[in-house]
Amino acid sequence: MTPPMKITVRPATVEDHLLYLRLLPELGVDDPPPDAARWENELVPTTLVAERAGEALGVCTWVKLEGSGHVRTLIVDPRERRTGAGRALLEVVERRLREAGCSSWALNVKPENVAAIRLYVSLGFRRAYASVALRFEWAAVERLPASPRVQARAVTPEDDRALEQLFSLPAGQIAGLRQSKRVLLTLVDDAGQVTALAAYNPAYPGAFPFRVKDPSLARALLEAMRPHALPGAEWTGLVVENDDALVALLRAHGASVRMNIDHYVGAL
Ligand SMILES: CC(C)(COP(=O)(O)OP(=O)(O)OC[C@H]1O[C@@H](n2cnc3c(N)ncnc32)[C@H](O)[C@@H]1OP(=O)(O)O)[C@@H](O)C(=O)NCCC(=O)NCCS
Repeated sequence: MTPPMKITVRPATVEDHLLYLRLLPELGVDDPPPDAARWENELVPTTLVAERAGEALGVCTWVKLEGSGHVRTLIVDPRERRTGAGRALLEVVERRLREAGCSSWALNVKPENVAAIRLYVSLGFRRAYASVALRFEWAAVERLPASPRVQARAVTPEDDRALEQLFSLPAGQIAGLRQSKRVLLTLVDDAGQVTALAAYNPAYPGAFPFRVKDPSLARALLEAMRPHALPGAEWTGLVVENDDALVALLRAHGASVRMNIDHYVGAL
């Protein structure tokens, strides 16, 4: 009997766009598929492809931040699962992040995704906290409790460190969101301190992160986002991380749950 062909991992190319589009529905999320320009400029440089004998088996998209990494997407062709492609992809990402001096990596996964979670735990990942993807109607903003006095403005690069510290975000995450052309908004209190962060993508539509120092600031942050919404948009998505009080407030004002998400972190 001939031994099974070895799985190899290579960088993605522009030609892999169709492969990515074919595999993306396997994630079961309603993220809009990347067009050719976004695939080439944003995703090709950060995507790996696993293959066997020249046949593509799966893809993994990842980013290196400052001292940590984030696995954004991992998908293996349903016909090729459980043959080691997922693990092979993550092992290459792990090695590259280590070589780049990173000491931790993180990812998001649906709590019911047993296959993926087994794989992540076997690589040393541990659940850090829960997040919730919500849908919030713009018409409900005015029913939220009034926020304390704050000034809304765009996040400047000088704010990044303070916001990343305030919300325990990985260093470099906000710079990455700026590169991805998110609308970055914050709220500044009377003492001049930043107290909130929304990284809003009007085309999606949604904000991720959507973070506030206190749930009472949610209304002011949504009011700051709203002028950036596309004409006719009736709702926005919001991903609320590790903040049960904020989820409760938004749900009490009509937000519906689109998806539960667990955040996993691993040491490198
Ligand atoms: C999760 C996924 C990427 C795993 O890819 P894969 O190539 O099948 O995984 P591997 O063959 O490398 O398996 C590695 C380990 O994962 C775990 N695993 C994988 N599939 C599993 C399953 N169906 N049930 C239980 N454990 C499973 C096992 O621990 C396995 O090790 P073992 O085979 O030695 O027991 C794949 O199932 C997939 O594409 N799922 C749909 C998309 C998705 O959910 N992606 C993750 C989003 S966060």
